[in-house]
Amino acid sequence: MKKFFTVGLIAASTVAGAANAKTLVAYYSRTGNTMNVANQIAAATGADLYRIETVDENYYPTEYTATTEQAQREIRDGTLPPIKDIPDLTEYDTVFVGTPCWWGTMASPVRTFLTNADLSGKTVVPFNTHGGSGFANVHMNIVELTPNSTHLNGIAIYGSQSKNSTDMVHEWLTEIGVLSE
Ligand SMILES: Cc1cc2nc3c(=O)[nH]c(=O)nc-3n(C[C@H](O)[C@H](O)[C@H](O)COP(=O)(O)O)c2cc1C
Repeated sequence: MKKFFTVGLIAASTVAGAANAKTLVAYYSRTGNTMNVANQIAAATGADLYRIETVDENYYPTEYTATTEQAQREIRDGTLPPIKDIPDLTEYDTVFVGTPCWWGTMASPVRTFLTNADLSGKTVVPFNTHGGSGFANVHMNIVELTPNSTHLNGIAIYGSQSKNSTDMVHEWLTEIGVLSE
């Protein structure tokens, strides 16, 4: 119990207490679920929002099954879909990284983002929405692509609950020390 409390204090001072600390919520969302959670995090923390978008807005088909097939090929081949310009990240100490779960991992545009953005020295906090797989390998794969960052425990939320997850998000942010009780 004492140990848990100490860890919480360290996280709080790192994330919320540092002078001039700024937080960004970077997310990709194809159908709005991950965007809902991103908005809840930004509302709770006062963070800036950055939506990761493919350069070609018709890059993915509108049809679900066709999208899953394209995504499966992409993940298998390591294809990185081109995304619009990444904002200047230097002023951010903490970056939440949000993604839908795609085939057990992050959506490919998030992989493009993490491959091109330099998040070293920053605190990275993963979150994802899903249709039943929970965390799967999503957070582990985000951690793998940000080896020089510090990581806080993330959250996985059912896509269908994403409109009503404000309380869950608050509880999680408090648990990891981003919000004080
Ligand atoms: C290409 C693709 C692959 C998916 N793979 C999974 C999966 O492996 N496990 C899962 O639980 N949900 C999977 N889903 C469902 C999405 O993770 C879920 O609907 C998510 O909330 C969508 O978020 P969004 O509205 O922000 O795009 C997949 C959806 C798509 C489009």
